[in-house]
Amino acid sequence: MSFEDKSQQYLESGLNFQHALLRDLLGYTIHPDIRSDGGLPKEAKIADIGTGTGQWLIDVSAELPSAQLDGFDLSEEQYPSKAWLPSQISLSQLDITKTIPSKLEGMYDLVHVQLFLCVVQKTGPAAILNELYKLLKPGGYLQWVEYDPVSFKVVSPDPSLEQSANEKHIEIIRGPEGKATEWPSELSLYLDHAGFQEINSKSYPLPPEMYAPFMQCHLFAAEEVSLKAMKNDGSESQGIMFRKLLAEVHKECQRGVTMAESPVVVIGQKPVRMSV
Ligand SMILES: C[S@@+](CC[C@H](N)C(=O)[O-])C[C@H]1O[C@@H](n2cnc3c(N)ncnc32)[C@H](O)[C@@H]1O
Repeated sequence: MSFEDKSQQYLESGLNFQHALLRDLLGYTIHPDIRSDGGLPKEAKIADIGTGTGQWLIDVSAELPSAQLDGFDLSEEQYPSKAWLPSQISLSQLDITKTIPSKLEGMYDLVHVQLFLCVVQKTGPAAILNELYKLLKPGGYLQWVEYDPVSFKVVSPDPSLEQSANEKHIEIIRGPEGKATEWPSELSLYLDHAGFQEINSKSYPLPPEMYAPFMQCHLFAAEEVSLKAMKNDGSESQGIMFRKLLAEVHKECQRGVTMAESPVVVIGQKPVRMSV
């Protein structure tokens, strides 16, 4: 069966794998500063925006069994069957690039966003942050977990090994201007502009033993982009050429040449009292 036929299954398992890796890297689901602050009541209302397969909410449900956990995504296709979810989790459809429904305004103690690089693109997260801010109660927290393309770099166990495919891959991620998407490394500034306070930003450099599984996630995502967003008609088409490059990247990875990176987590609090 081809990748195209299986792509929905690959997408779901890829998201679950990626989420598990991030959770292991960070060592938490909810940032310790949010938990330790007493900032979350037992019956907290928590939203996960762009929830995908809902895995982050499933993890939180084990930690906060009395919380209300609401997942939202543009597409409901990745949602697991409601029948097997903890009853505290509900999943519905929402496009966060549009104005949020007024019934959701000021509803949440915590709003979580994870891996929105493809959603936000290079233009920056300001518009989305305004909607996320509106979802929060006064005093509520935002937690945003993101890949940081500025941190992407090729690493090799031996300088004599071929690494041109990995370099080309990063070049393609940077795009025609050769500049990495910068908004994730500047996310704390965006939160500041959006009105958040008590902002905390931290990068999590991958330990070397995590290079390979994180790279598998990137290769998987790149293949999906090549199939869904590139032309695939003819042997010289962009999608087919890109997948040839990915096969070369994979060969280099098998010899230990791969990508190092530092995902970033930014948290911020909506002021308890709004300034006039
Ligand atoms: C890379 S996935 C991350 C999923 C999940 N947060 C995780 O970490 O596993 C990005 C998710 O954002 C969703 N998405 C894309 N555009 C969106 C939008 N405008 N509003 C809400 N969700 C969106 C996608 O459907 C996808 O599930």
